[in-house]
Amino acid sequence: MGIAQYDVVGIGEAELRYGLGFLRSQIKAHDLPAVSANLVYLDSGDYIVEPYSVVKRGGFKVGVTAVSGELESFRGKESLKDWRDQNVTLSDPETALTEVIDRMRQKEKVDLVIVLSHMGYEEGAKLGEAIPGIDVWIEAHNRGRMVTPEKKGETIYAACRGRSSGYGELYLSLAEEGAVSNFVGRAGGLTSKGRSDEAALAVIMEFKQAGKKPTRRVRKADQPVVDAAMVSKDTFVSAESCRKCHAGVYESWAMTGHASAYATIAETAQWNDPDCLICHTTGYGEMSDPESGMIEPKFWNVQCESCHGMGTQHSRHPGAAEVPEHVCLECHNQSNSPEFDYDAYVEHIVHH
Ligand code: HEC
Ligand code: HEC
Ligand code: HEC
Ligand code: HEC
Repeated sequence: MGIAQYDVVGIGEAELRYGLGFLRSQIKAHDLPAVSANLVYLDSGDYIVEPYSVVKRGGFKVGVTAVSGELESFRGKESLKDWRDQNVTLSDPETALTEVIDRMRQKEKVDLVIVLSHMGYEEGAKLGEAIPGIDVWIEAHNRGRMVTPEKKGETIYAACRGRSSGYGELYLSLAEEGAVSNFVGRAGGLTSKGRSDEAALAVIMEFKQAGKKPTRRVRKADQPVVDAAMVSKDTFVSAESCRKCHAGVYESWAMTGHASAYATIAETAQWNDPDCLICHTTGYGEMSDPESGMIEPKFWNVQCESCHGMGTQHSRHPGAAEVPEHVCLECHNQSNSPEFDYDAYVEHIVHH
């Protein structure tokens, strides 16, 4: 995306899949002009990236914003928690868009308003109808449904194909006062024929090459004979698994600082620093990727298993309820927790 030098990049809910820290690092590293009208901090409601961008072309001011569907429409409960852990949410698209479009029209005096949407064609069309002042609505969530752009009411709807398999073209003829007098376009597939960009090609080849390494996805023929000892190896299962049977304990743990220990580092420059992750996540080392050092969201925070041991040992470990001082001291050491006092600290974390 950096090589393609987009004027504006919209953010959809899937962009948060590897966490806000990762998204931010990519935006920064590739200088991406990201916008979103409804990606906001959960507590303050403040925007996380710019809410819109004004692009000047041919003497016209074009206001571009982006919107994503609400989280609940995409994700299961578990990932909603990941979002909460990072203090991130997607606010109501209608309210958010109305406000941003108003600002672009009134304050920036734009001639044209374009919305980049990641919410699905039907939902998008409903919003486009409900909110006045949108000239163009570009939908990216539904893949390949709409080939030619169509106008409904005052808004032109266009789409492109998903997952980098295609692109969309839309040409607008503008009258002097900025009104769209005509339009034409289509969504097409990208083919290997025609011009290619050397730098982009190099990135793609590198990606394909990396995919060939059997580290993550082992090809059937390469799979080793399954070792019985490996299958029954103990492992971390995450707090969501414990929640099924220990709902009350889970709720009480969720109120402690341990349950938001990842959020503490998520937005700092150290969001992916193994030196921090080791105490602010669960099972680091065992559950993290040995190459990248990344750890899945389900193991973020100081969860049950940090204190009670691996979940698979549950039934074989009668003394599991006792968590002696030395377990705490692995993290509450002299440099990170100088005031640690077992009796005083344990008071704050007991579950009832
Ligand atoms: C399938 C249900 C189930 C799941 C899942 C489950 N537990 Fe338990 N757990 C129990 C039962 C039943 C007991 C024993 C009842 C009791 O003593 O209250 C227990 C007891 C415990 C105890 C106390 C042991 C003792 O000596 O008193 C701890 C600690 C505990 N579980 C932790 C966990 C953790 C951590 C997880 C997730 C990794 C987990 N449990 C997942 C059902 C479950
Ligand atoms: C895997 C590492 C780890 C272990 C094990 C651990 N802690 Fe913590 N603890 C942390 C981190 C990290 C924080 C800071 C959380 C944050 O970001 O605010 C913390 C914070 C706390 C706090 C202050 C937050 C609050 O909820 O009031 C208390 C109290 C605490 N721990 C008690 C304990 C006790 C008692 C034990 C042992 C029974 C223990 N911890 C074991 C990592 C750990
Ligand atoms: C050896 C374990 C350990 C490591 C490594 C560690 N932390 Fe912590 N961190 C803790 C513990 C334990 C606490 C809670 C201290 C207390 O309340 O006594 C804590 C607390 C914090 C707090 C204060 C949280 C609050 O709300 O008061 C911040 C910020 C923090 N850590 C950031 C970091 C960063 C950044 C790194 C990496 C450079 C890091 N930590 C590495 C164990 C660790
Ligand atoms: C910071 C360490 C720590 C974390 C994290 C933690 N526990 Fe505990 N847990 C303890 C300690 C210490 C005790 C015994 C102290 C007490 O409750 O009086 C205990 C007791 C228990 C007990 C037995 C007593 C009871 O109240 O039923 C269960 C079951 C349990 N924990 C399950 C869990 C589950 C499930 C989670 C995650 C949702 C969790 N614990 C997270 C430290 C921890």
